[in-house]
Amino acid sequence: MRGIPIDKSIAQRCAILGLDFDGKEISEDVKHTMEAANALKSSREDVELDLGNSGTGMRLLTGYIVGLGEAAILLGDTSLSKRPMKRIADPLSEWGAKIELTNNKFAPIKINRSELKPKFKYHLEIASAQIKSCLLMAAVSSGSQIEIEEHLISRDHTERLLEECDGLIKKEGKKIFFDGRKKLTKKKIDIPKDFSCVAYFLAADILTGRINEIKNVGVNKTRTAFLDILKEMGAKIEQKNLRIISNEPRADLKASIAGPLKGVTILGDMVPNLIDEIPLIAILAMFAQGKTVVRGAKELRYKESDRISLLLSNLKKFNPNIELREFEDGFEINPKEHNMNKDLSITTNGDHRMLMSFVIAGLRINKTINFDDTSCVDTSFPKFFNLIEKCYQ
Ligand code: S3P
Repeated sequence: MRGIPIDKSIAQRCAILGLDFDGKEISEDVKHTMEAANALKSSREDVELDLGNSGTGMRLLTGYIVGLGEAAILLGDTSLSKRPMKRIADPLSEWGAKIELTNNKFAPIKINRSELKPKFKYHLEIASAQIKSCLLMAAVSSGSQIEIEEHLISRDHTERLLEECDGLIKKEGKKIFFDGRKKLTKKKIDIPKDFSCVAYFLAADILTGRINEIKNVGVNKTRTAFLDILKEMGAKIEQKNLRIISNEPRADLKASIAGPLKGVTILGDMVPNLIDEIPLIAILAMFAQGKTVVRGAKELRYKESDRISLLLSNLKKFNPNIELREFEDGFEINPKEHNMNKDLSITTNGDHRMLMSFVIAGLRINKTINFDDTSCVDTSFPKFFNLIEKCYQ
């Protein structure tokens, strides 16, 4: 299937590390990070960098710039300016950085010149690949040594890229050791299709009964817990041609279902490995038999929208009969007989994953849904609507 973008997490890491890749199918987030990384290279003055909607771009680039010892201002759109940045400013400051946040919490981020200590150790309380990678980027650009202990294992694309580029990186359980004194070998990286984009088609196939094979999809275990959940819900997943290129596994994927779709329970440990797919799981849950429970997912509240409260209010609009419970760290969905609202309007608040998840729900009920905003799709998947039309209309 043409038009599915390359993995946005990997591409943004490559852009910051100055690693070459084929950039034909990229999203707005990747464009913003590439432009910001280029602007950084070509400027000598205190530079102002606009990361648009990209939390990954902003957090990882902050780490990289701090490590360089340069000064810069990083800003983003309205949504990104409301997302928590103290989570990176705190460890970086402890390490020696001089960072000023707006209202002590948010972007714009002002980075002042500073020098990091040659060694740093950090225990990650929040399960976040962005915080981990921010610190690793700072170790790369400053040539320092870092030890990070994760509380839950999050996506490991940065670690894999550092290893691919002959960096001195070692993993022992939840501990990561990286020695930035050895320079990285610059290589061209082959980036697979973004699993988080492919997930919409797997879910759509399950809900509509169509079957599409999608080739060359990133199937890194720290990203694909969604596949395990689909299996638990009763789906069949076919994975072919598993191979590793540029230190990242990829395969061809197909999803189908023979029996009924069943509700599932998702708890803390696996959450970081399916964090971006939770809105889509909620959509599947709406058409499943039995209850679905998601807990240990408080991080959803800090994404492009508060993905717990917005998700639940949209599910209620979709099916007024649905029984929902909201928790600080998750939710419970008890789907009742489907009683669709006649005038279906969904609020995305500019959140691309909210939008795409409800488009998939619409395929099942074969009804057009009104959205407050559809342009946010470009954040991660510019050709989403073309592909949906091609595959399901
Ligand atoms: C990302 C990590 C995750 C994920 C985001 C991309 C990354 O965020 O939700 O879409 O590229 O490292 P957190 O690290 O904040 O959980």
